[in-house]
Parts: sequence; structure tokens; C-alpha cells
Amino acid sequence: MVAGIDDMAVYIPRLYVAASDLAKARGIDPAKLEKGLGISKMAIVDTNQDPACLAANACLKIMQKNKLSPEDIGRLYVSTESAFDESKAMNSYVIGMLEQIYGSGSFEHCGGIETKFACVSGSYALYDNTNWIRAGEAEGKYAIVVVSDIAKYDLGSSGEATQGAGAISMLLNDSPRLLAFDPKVTSTSIKDDYDFYRPFGKETPIVHGQYSNLLYFIQIRKAFEAWKKKVISSGLIEVGEDETVLDHIDYLNMHLPYSTMGKKALAYLLRHEWRCLPRWQTLIDKIGLTEPYPKDPRGTIESLLNDREFMEKDHEFTKRFTQTEEFQELYESKLASSLIASKAIGNLYTASLYLGFRSCLEFEFQNGVDLAGKRIGFGSYGSGASAMVFSGVIQPEYKAVVKDMNIETEIGTREKLSFENYEMIHENKLSLDQALLTPKKEFVLVRIETKPETRGERRYIFNE
Ligand code: HMG
Repeated sequence: MVAGIDDMAVYIPRLYVAASDLAKARGIDPAKLEKGLGISKMAIVDTNQDPACLAANACLKIMQKNKLSPEDIGRLYVSTESAFDESKAMNSYVIGMLEQIYGSGSFEHCGGIETKFACVSGSYALYDNTNWIRAGEAEGKYAIVVVSDIAKYDLGSSGEATQGAGAISMLLNDSPRLLAFDPKVTSTSIKDDYDFYRPFGKETPIVHGQYSNLLYFIQIRKAFEAWKKKVISSGLIEVGEDETVLDHIDYLNMHLPYSTMGKKALAYLLRHEWRCLPRWQTLIDKIGLTEPYPKDPRGTIESLLNDREFMEKDHEFTKRFTQTEEFQELYESKLASSLIASKAIGNLYTASLYLGFRSCLEFEFQNGVDLAGKRIGFGSYGSGASAMVFSGVIQPEYKAVVKDMNIETEIGTREKLSFENYEMIHENKLSLDQALLTPKKEFVLVRIETKPETRGERRYIFNE
């Protein structure tokens, strides 16, 4: 049975911090943020927003847009790594908010859980719900998967420039207008590691930045190798002589903790894919360097990072590789459109990959590309660590959905934060009732109970 994404809706907080302001305040060259990391603005939550209300706002949008009622929804999953309760699932809060609009008990037939595995959990939720539909259990109902996060790092840390906040809801069914997932090829990799994690009670993660970049590449590639085997053995993709499977993928969407990570990941995958093909020698001639190898090719990520000579040579090799016209052509045609929204919004953790997909659809459509029948490859990564690689094909009816996509209109008028207010919000120095913006047709958090018997209970209202 066919299953996939029928529609998607985005909710992004309207406050933002400008990368140029952050660079100035921290004494960093703005070019490092704008060009090196590919960040111009980062969405920041107001004092009265939490990941549950971001998620509920994205769910309400998708239901209203598609004129759905609660009876049409069989499952509602929330994927997040910004949870504020160790037991109560975030989707129960979301259901509570939606029932303020649709009536008390209107979702009681609907199942769902909160899923967690850093940034990759939304992809697991999509996969599980796709299989629920494929198994024939949906009985004509939709599943909603909403990915929602607040990416927050310590002030002054190297991760501070890779923050952001937002939620994306995805509507899944058996006759999707947007994208049908390729069956039986989804592949995963998993490892117990500590590149990025957030111990109980800590609001910001402990991060080993450069280590996390390398682990991302390695885990994605492992999942990619498994996906490659499946697409070839199942006959989904026929790879001709002197070709790689990537020649048969029209667009690539990667997890984007910052937008240039997509480009780095593409370079890493291509170097491994092209190395055994005749085209590689032409590229080596253009690059003018032999490909460097580490002192200990079977070593750990630490040994690689400590092998300074190799790291420097490899950096130079990658730089020259990404400047070749072969790389540039592929980058522009298969990846660049997915990075546009990330530059203007920042990291959304679980939602970053899907913001990239949304961006690819919107900007390719605006460029007049006919996307019907195009195959999209997805590289999802979550620290800690797991990767998932999967693919799908854009459906003939996609235009009906994509023609109305406009990320700027969907966010609404944005307001730049003064640096002082940004730091006050970051350090939780403003209370819920000191919100900077007036909410417009959206859920906001109004109270968190403090009495011992109700401690932690959250109250939300919908503002007309
Ligand atoms: P850093 O180490 O300070 O930056 O922070 P850098 O030295 O690597 O520089 C970044 C880029 O800017 C480089 O580009 C520099 O050359 C360039 P490259 O050469 O690699 O292409 N640059 C400049 N460009 C122009 N003008 C200049 C200039 N200076 C430098 N003047 C780091 C980078 C990613 C480590 C940091 O932001 C960080 O710790 N971020 C948080 C962790 C992270 O995002 N990791 C990514 C992989 S793990 C992941 O994706 C999972 C995650 O989403 C969490 C989850 O799964 O839940 C994080």
C-alpha cells in the first residue's frame, strides 16, 4: 500500500536574533556565521511559548488548512528533544490544546506518543506511522506527526550560533499528494556515543562540536550504505556502469543543525561514492592534490581529530573538491534549495530535516521546476547517535499543495530582538506574562502550577 506525506504546516516563533548582532556581541567575524555556518537569523521563542504550544500551533494549522476534524485523525505523534516532563507525553498537552478548539474529548479515539532520539526521532515517528498506514490499520484516517523543538545552547558557546525554534506538522495518509515513501528501503544505524546530550534537569546540551560533525557523517554514511544495498537489491534503482545511486536521486535533504552542514554532508557522501568511479581521476586532476589518509585509518574519531596534519590536509582537499564544477553543479541542482529556510530560521533539531524538505519544495516550485516523479533522498541524524536514510517520490498532485507554500507568509511579520532582550529570554529572566509580542490566533502558555500537588501542570490558552 502507498503511504506518505499529504501536506505539511510550519509554525515558527516570530521573534529572532540576527546573526550579525550575535557576531558583534561575541566578537566573532560575521562572515563565520553568515558564510561558514550559513546562518543569518535564528528564531527565538517568546516568554510564553514552549515546545508543546509550538507543536499545537503547527497541528491546528494543518487541520484548519485541510478542513479536518478530530474524527479524521487516528494518530498524533509528537517528536521532540525539548521535553519538560519525564513521564507525561508532549502529545497529551497538544491534544489538550486542540480540544480547546474542537471540544473536550474530541480526540479521545486518537492514539499517539512522544518520541525521543535527539534530532532523528521525527523520522522514526514518520516511519512507524507510515507502516501503520501500510498495514491497513488506519481505516481511512490520517496520522499527524509533529516535530517540535527549541534549540538552545549556552550563551557564549560555539553552539550559540546554531540555535532556533519551531514546529512542523506532517499529515500522513494512503493517498499522499506530496510524497510517497519508497517501501522496504528505510535504513538505520545506531551507536552509544556522547557527541551531544542533555542530562536530566539541564536546559542546554553538553556538546563536543567537531566530534559531533564527524559522528554525523559516519552514522549517516552507515545508514546510507544499508539503504543503497536495499535500493539496488530490490531493483528500485538500477545503477549503470560508472554510476552511483546518487546519480538517481533528484534531491537530497539532510539534517541541518546549521545550513552549511548539508553541504559538508553532501561532500562527504560524494567523496565516498565517486572515489571508485572513472570521474574521480578527472576530479583529482582538477583538485591538484592526492586524497589524504589519516595516520591510523582504523582509529577513533578522537584519533582523527588529533591527527592535525591529516585534518588540515583533508580540510584543504574538501575545500578544493567543493569548488569543482562537478560538485557545484550537483550541489546547486540537488541540495541548495533545501538550505534556504534554515539560513533564515536556524536549527529546529527534530524539525530541521523537514524544514529543509519544505524549503526544497517551495523554492524548486518557485523556480518553475516540475517536481512530479522526482525522487528525494533523506539523511536524518540524531546525536547519541542514530541515523536514518530513506527516500520517496513526489506525487503528481503535489502542485495543489506546494503552490500555496510561502515560508515568509507562514511565519508572519518577524520582530528582531534587541541583544539585551535575547539574553534575558535565554536566561529565563522574563516571566510568562512579560511576552514581547501579542499572540495572534495561536496557543500560548499562561501558567505553570507551583503548588506541591499540582506542580508542573501547564495551562495554555488560544488567543483569537
Ligand atoms: P566552530 O568550531 O566554532 O566553527 O563551531 P568552525 O571553526 O568549524 O567554523 C565553522 C565554519 O566557518 C568553517 O567552515 C570555517 O572555515 C568557517 P568549513 O571550513 O568547515 O567549511 N569560518 C569562516 N568562514 C568565513 N569567514 C570567517 C570564518 N571563520 C571560520 N571569518 C560547530 C562549529 C558546529 C562545532 C559549533 O557551531 C557547534 O558546536 N554546534 C553545535 C553542535 C552541532 O551543530 N553539531 C552538528 C553535528 S551533530 C547534529 O547535527 C545533531 C544536533 O542537531 C543535535 C541533535 O541531534 O539533537 C546538533
